[in-house]
Amino acid sequence: MPVITNIDDLKRLHKRRTPKMFYDYCESGSWTEQTFRENVSDFDQIRLRQRVAVDMEGRSTATKMIGQDVAMPVALAPVGLTGMQRADGEIKAAKAAEKFGVPFTLSTMSICSIEDVAAHTTKPFWFQLYVMRDQDFLKNIIQRAKDAGVSALVLTLDLQILGQRHKDLKNGLSAPPKLTPAVLADLATKWSWGLEMLQTKRRGFGNIIGHAKNVDDPSSLFKWTAEQFDPRLDWGKIEAIKEMWGGPLILKGVMEPEDAVMAAKTGCDAIVVSNHGGRQLDGALSSIRALPPILDAVGDSVEVHLDSGIRSGQDVLKAIAMGAKGTYIGRAFVHGLGAMGEEGVTKALEVIHKEMDISMALCGRKHIEDVDRDILRVPEDFAGRWA
Ligand SMILES: Cc1cc2nc3c(=O)[nH]c(=O)nc-3n(C[C@H](O)[C@H](O)[C@H](O)COP(=O)(O)O)c2cc1C
Repeated sequence: MPVITNIDDLKRLHKRRTPKMFYDYCESGSWTEQTFRENVSDFDQIRLRQRVAVDMEGRSTATKMIGQDVAMPVALAPVGLTGMQRADGEIKAAKAAEKFGVPFTLSTMSICSIEDVAAHTTKPFWFQLYVMRDQDFLKNIIQRAKDAGVSALVLTLDLQILGQRHKDLKNGLSAPPKLTPAVLADLATKWSWGLEMLQTKRRGFGNIIGHAKNVDDPSSLFKWTAEQFDPRLDWGKIEAIKEMWGGPLILKGVMEPEDAVMAAKTGCDAIVVSNHGGRQLDGALSSIRALPPILDAVGDSVEVHLDSGIRSGQDVLKAIAMGAKGTYIGRAFVHGLGAMGEEGVTKALEVIHKEMDISMALCGRKHIEDVDRDILRVPEDFAGRWA
């Protein structure tokens, strides 16, 4: 068993053990990948203030996100095709999150279905919704989420059309993969992935196959999104979905103050400052840079969460100190899953927890609620003075 001390260790194993098509799907951003890169590098611009002679005993990272107890302010972000990174990936990740005491968010584009994940977990999880053109499908999936006891709906606002990721097109991304000579050659070196995949029946889009009309082959993510995702999503439709759902609602993918104000007006429970991990609008600011003006604009009217670029517990601490009430990790947990299955997701959560806990202590804080802007050194004009 290799010694894992950070998320990069998991990333290296993920790359070695997972078919190239799926590793690349995870580890890429759209077009030039500028936003994808800056999501990570902008966290490095922020420094921490070391404090001394502060009693560090009795620390806790426990807090709440949308009123729900969490062991640390970190949820697992919705990630499509997680069940292709490792067989039954969504179930494995959900179990790890449940044991750790953090929310798991199931993607609409998951391999394991809502019902599958509910059957293998004991606590409610969150469900991420993409708005489809097919109204029957939309009503039905919201009902399925209610029936499964989902405790928050995460409505994604930034993917009505797909940002282009060059590698996915070049690799011919599909679920399950089409067995071309190149894919077969790659699989020959990833045999344990293949063996596990042969033992599961979950190899297609579990929430869609058998539930959407006239969908015989949704294996291509691109074809499905182009045909089915509703490009007409607007604030009126968001209100309608809020009513249809009737439970806790999180609006994901807000990057500008004016949109954040509109989102807060819907009466949702939280907004997520997110650029989809740099996978949609390349050239958008990193989400950590986008956060301060959004916080200024919405004040206390809505809880503000953040994702995109978090690779360590220090990144989480920085986001919380800047004012976010919660964060999400995407690639950081997928690297764990691809590296070592459920155990790897647990490892990713442990790594992040330990880094956050120790850094919090060295900044002289014992509780998440005490973490504030005072523990940071932020470059002047971090959000940028853009004309
Ligand atoms: C491989 C992959 C698939 C994703 N699929 C979805 C999805 O189905 N729905 C969604 O709302 N966001 C999706 N996202 C975006 C994540 O929810 C999250 O915003 C992003 O991963 C955060 O950035 P990070 O990976 O740097 O932590 C995906 C991200 C990745 C990396």
